[in-house]
Amino acid sequence: MSIRNLAEFGTRHVARGIGRLATEVIESGSGSYVTMASGRKFLDFTCGIGVANLGHCHPAVTKAAQTQAGKMVHAQVNIAFQRPYLELIEQLIPLMPDKSLDTFFFWNSGSEAVEAAVKLARHATKKQNVIVMQGSYHGRTFGTMAMTKSKTIYGENYGPLMPGVFAVPFPDCAHCSIAAHAGGKFSYEKCCMDPVTELELLLKRETAPSDTAAIFIEPVLGEGGYVPVPEGYLQRVREICDKNNILLVADEVQSGFGRTGKMFAIEHWGVRPDILVMAKGIANGFPLSGIVSRKELMDTQKPGSMGGTYAGNAVSCAAGIAVAKAFQEESILENVNARGKEMMDALKELKQKHGDMVHDVRGLGLMQAIEFKAGKGYGSKVQAKCMEKDMLILTTSIYDTLRFIPPLNISQEDMAKGLGIIKEAVEEVAQGAKPEETGTKGLAPE
Ligand SMILES: Cc1ncc(COP(=O)(O)O)c(C=O)c1O
Repeated sequence: MSIRNLAEFGTRHVARGIGRLATEVIESGSGSYVTMASGRKFLDFTCGIGVANLGHCHPAVTKAAQTQAGKMVHAQVNIAFQRPYLELIEQLIPLMPDKSLDTFFFWNSGSEAVEAAVKLARHATKKQNVIVMQGSYHGRTFGTMAMTKSKTIYGENYGPLMPGVFAVPFPDCAHCSIAAHAGGKFSYEKCCMDPVTELELLLKRETAPSDTAAIFIEPVLGEGGYVPVPEGYLQRVREICDKNNILLVADEVQSGFGRTGKMFAIEHWGVRPDILVMAKGIANGFPLSGIVSRKELMDTQKPGSMGGTYAGNAVSCAAGIAVAKAFQEESILENVNARGKEMMDALKELKQKHGDMVHDVRGLGLMQAIEFKAGKGYGSKVQAKCMEKDMLILTTSIYDTLRFIPPLNISQEDMAKGLGIIKEAVEEVAQGAKPEETGTKGLAPE
């Protein structure tokens, strides 16, 4: 089929509900680049939305998967233990943000893993309700649709959704009305902690502690705009959880596996989660997700009540082992922090130069964003310009925000190239250059 016919075929036969960034057809990927069927090669600052974090087709990950595919593809967790599953746990235990996190359950997608966390929290506490953050993204399945509060599109016309979900404001200092009116008194480094008060009020007004099983939080809000929690906030939430026998669940589907410069984002604040949710970067593109918690909680579940046909697939687990080894052998976190600083410096420079256009720049490691002032559609224009210059980037959140998700092992040269393209694109949009049509409508989030 010709390229044109392929794209037309896709438009006709692929579910319309799947939005997409480009009308191109992806053919292959290698490291920080993706090649389209048209022959165009794009520098990829999306990593397939934070999944191929070690670059596309990382050689050691590909080799591990190929070897495992020749040995055993589907071992089925409900039949017997399988070697790669156990060896992956062995690799992951030392990487966990707290020693108490020692018992694992693997599933396929992030949404399923979030639901596994809801099941565990309800079962272990014998309580039903969960609290989530406004702006959070936890997935698109029936349970997680109810927990996703980043945009109405994810739940619109799909109700009734799972009951028992309550939402509180996420501590988003760039949109905090108290900070806005306090003349610089409050900031990310010194939060007004109003969201903590809101949480306490919620537990008094809407969902009693005796009915509340868990609080779910993304330590760095993903789809909601790449917003790290401010200093001190998670500690306060931990105290509320401890006082009320509520479990703290860190959804690190997007922020985990090195994305923020630590193995898990929650390490930036030194807070212990009761349950940690993982996916995306765990196997660099092979479908795998999981939860980890302490044994005493996990052991409340009856044998047979957890599992799933493809859960913890052997090839995905083998890929996951190779990912964990690569982190050690290839000094991935060092690179994230070095490249992350280069990126933050460049974004700050853009903010300084284009203060009339840029509302905020923020992020940790290589999970960074630039938010433009509302109303002019700057983000989509810059995104379209980047596409013209053969670079993939994504928008996110209800605000006019671009998020940057480059490979964690991106070279200094490719980072400089990417930042150069972003700067050029912002300059051109600032000068009012009209972006050409590039088919960048209907952006595909998450
Ligand atoms: C924080 C977070 N949780 C859950 C999910 C859902 O994961 P999946 O799309 O694999 O179901 C995502 C996906 O982007 C996410 O970013």
